[in-house]
Amino acid sequence: MTDKNRVYIFDTTLRDGEQSPGATMSHAEKLEIAQMLDDMGVDIIEAGFPIASEGDFAAVSEIARQAQNSVICGLARAQLPDIDRCWEAVKHARRPRIHTFIGTSPLHRAIPNLDMDQMAERIEQTVTHARNLCDNVQWSPMDATRTEHDYLCRVVEIAIRCGATTINIPDTVGYTAPRESADLIRMLLERVPGADNIIFATHCHNDLGMATANALAAVEAGARQIECTINGLGERAGNTALEEVVMALKVRHDIMPFDTGIDTTKIMGISRRVAQVSGFPVQFNKAIVGKNAFLHESGIHQDGVLKNVETFEIMRPEDIGLTAANIAMGKHSGRAALRSKLAELGFDVGDNQLKDVFVRFKALADRKKEIFDEDLIALMQDSAANTGDDHLQVKHLRVVCGGGEPALASLSMAVDGEEKTVEMHGDGPVDAAFNCVNALFPHKAVLQLYQVHAVTEGTDAQATVSVRLEEDGRIATGQAADTDTILASVKAYAGALNRLIVRRAMTGPDADAKQISMYSH
Ligand code: KIV
Ligand code: ZN
Repeated sequence: MTDKNRVYIFDTTLRDGEQSPGATMSHAEKLEIAQMLDDMGVDIIEAGFPIASEGDFAAVSEIARQAQNSVICGLARAQLPDIDRCWEAVKHARRPRIHTFIGTSPLHRAIPNLDMDQMAERIEQTVTHARNLCDNVQWSPMDATRTEHDYLCRVVEIAIRCGATTINIPDTVGYTAPRESADLIRMLLERVPGADNIIFATHCHNDLGMATANALAAVEAGARQIECTINGLGERAGNTALEEVVMALKVRHDIMPFDTGIDTTKIMGISRRVAQVSGFPVQFNKAIVGKNAFLHESGIHQDGVLKNVETFEIMRPEDIGLTAANIAMGKHSGRAALRSKLAELGFDVGDNQLKDVFVRFKALADRKKEIFDEDLIALMQDSAANTGDDHLQVKHLRVVCGGGEPALASLSMAVDGEEKTVEMHGDGPVDAAFNCVNALFPHKAVLQLYQVHAVTEGTDAQATVSVRLEEDGRIATGQAADTDTILASVKAYAGALNRLIVRRAMTGPDADAKQISMYSH
């Protein structure tokens, strides 16, 4: 490997990904994801937008303190107070970076009402200020792919002259296509003085489904940093997916001889965790990390794979940390076996947690003959999402439905320690059960999403249920898993309400309502 073929992976799951409506993560979840990104070899972690809220500031500061290897970056608009606040947060890192940006296309220049010269002056002032604070500065001309080429060259040159060490070229609205993405990087490398001494980054959104292709095309043209998110999380159609670009570079190294520092065996673990904490499940046929990505359903495929796996498989499941689908455990399995299986699946559990998980595992094994890896993952995610300290705790649920009558649910739930029971009718079992929750804990949150997935095959499979609620601009998600779909639904609903209750009271690190807009420059 020569250094000129090293591609830096810049993960923005915690900033651009978290900006996706509904994907808000708690403070503790952000720290956990950052730790996983650091462990898997991500070069730069964009940990948040420090001036956006107290919560973002606290998360970026703490991630900066905790990171061992990755550069920790914060986002700042082209305003001096933003940049100062960003520096205050990232300065604790072993390797801090300030990322400052301004929209340079005609449409974006109109927002702060700056003409070309005024904007150039603002860029000069803000990049110089950032560089005086930190020797690692990234600058982005937002909506670069719709910016006039001459003006783009002019402002990139200014940013380099003022000390930017990385220039990111965002395709903010997912408008570009691979050839154009490559041409733009080539043009900048050819025309801008000083371009040879800095790193060009590519930041693609997926509105036309071309984010991965556009990022790879930019790399082939000379970009050496890819900005991406786990599972492609992000606003609208999301960002370039980390797992896609990293695996594309690995599998097609023959035609794209570029290297990253990512330990690809950690991909599946972080993908599952991000799906869980963001409340955005991964689509089944998603490249690399989708449930079906390594499944071979049709007879012809199965026959071919059995004879030679390379017939239909271009990468091995183990490469992304997927252990072969197998029956993991049964009701006679002991604690030590459970601990070692969980470790194999990427869950490092302490003694106390093991005790709790073992009880849940035994209860599941009583109801379900075969426990698969996926069952254990769902169980771990459920126990992380629904703890004994919650305000609302579902105790007992009974539902009667069918026979042409409205469904009737009876629910016992502890509300701040006091157990109450209620019976309610509804339009089907889920509606009746949710009506019980609403009767025991009245609220004005609106249900934005209710989603059920079967964890494994078979009618005794566990269901994982995701619920997303919105109240006064605050969004909270809840998730739960159970072989009883209605019970999982109620637990997920109560889980989302629990998170909303916490957020209502919050002014500190988890206060997630962003106070400012990215576009007010
Ligand atoms: O998409 C975009 O333009 C961004 C910038 C802030 C880099 O996310
Ligand atoms: Zn973006």
